[in-house]
Amino acid sequence: MTSSPETVLLVGATGYVGRHLAQRLHAEGFRVRAVVRERGRAEAPGAYDAPGLAGLVDDWVIAPRGAAELDSRVMDGVDRVVSALGVTRQKALPWDIDFLMNLRYLELAEKAEVRSFLYVGVMNIEKGTSELMRAKHAFVEALSRSRVTPQIVNPSGYFSDLTEIYDLARRGVVVGLGAGDVRLMPIHGADLAEFCLARLRSGAGTWDVGGPEVLTYRDIARIAFDAAGRKERYLGVPRAVAPAAVWASDRVSPRAGSLTRFFLEGALTDSVGERHGSRTLAEYYASLER
Ligand SMILES: NC(=O)c1ccc[n+]([C@@H]2O[C@H](COP(=O)([O-])OP(=O)(O)OC[C@H]3O[C@@H](n4cnc5c(N)ncnc54)[C@H](OP(=O)(O)O)[C@@H]3O)[C@@H](O)[C@H]2O)c1
Repeated sequence: MTSSPETVLLVGATGYVGRHLAQRLHAEGFRVRAVVRERGRAEAPGAYDAPGLAGLVDDWVIAPRGAAELDSRVMDGVDRVVSALGVTRQKALPWDIDFLMNLRYLELAEKAEVRSFLYVGVMNIEKGTSELMRAKHAFVEALSRSRVTPQIVNPSGYFSDLTEIYDLARRGVVVGLGAGDVRLMPIHGADLAEFCLARLRSGAGTWDVGGPEVLTYRDIARIAFDAAGRKERYLGVPRAVAPAAVWASDRVSPRAGSLTRFFLEGALTDSVGERHGSRTLAEYYASLER
């Protein structure tokens, strides 16, 4: 007798990681119910080589305002929730999306008594002082205390984000903080999705995960210059300017202050966890058009 496939509600499905999660869920035989703001954009290929959702989604939930306009019907027949929902380049406030919108999905998931809620967070979630890190931390706290089985995957930097360093290298100079000795484990979205899927039926847990290599920021700059075919030029801004930059940006706007804190704290804190995957940053940079 074959059992019927589990249904996963995927939120944040149109993002870099969300698209890879949809692809992996579909490949592993799950029914995918995706919440998206706009179906046309969702079906088209995503940025940074992330797949389009056409053919990967079984049920579409179109919600331009996200969870705010959804009721308990969104969870009908849902076995698990997977969330890669969060503000990166979008204009919304992290508190409204990373915390409150994820919390709304969690409340709906609790009511529906789904089996698990897997959340893609970020490494060092408990340390940051930016609004973004506080919002993510608040959600992780709520999820940890939920009666739905909590699964928290905290990744290191994505290849998508690190494309910026390649773009700087192509233009000739990479700027970093100090000697650039903070360590990261860059990870491809497909490798991260594979990691998440391997944990989906494993029960509660928290995992810090990165790609196959531990690299300093300076190593990443070097790899980017190599791929771009440019001579290495790294400009290290003294670490001592960090507090002044935070002070100044706080006076520009709360958003500017929060973003400055997020980037500076990221540039000063190692993001190193379990190694996973096989795709290297050098291969990814080499695949980008010059
Ligand atoms: N980038 C990194 O290096 C990195 C590293 C570790 C962890 N993370 C975290 O991992 C998560 C996923 O990252 P990602 O790079 O895949 O992000 P992404 O590409 O920006 O995707 C974020 C997802 O959240 C949705 N979203 C954002 N604001 C929204 C709003 N106001 N209303 C409704 N939906 C909204 C987006 O929908 P739309 O497509 O409609 O905007 C998208 O589906 C984020 O929480 C991020 O902070 C990122």
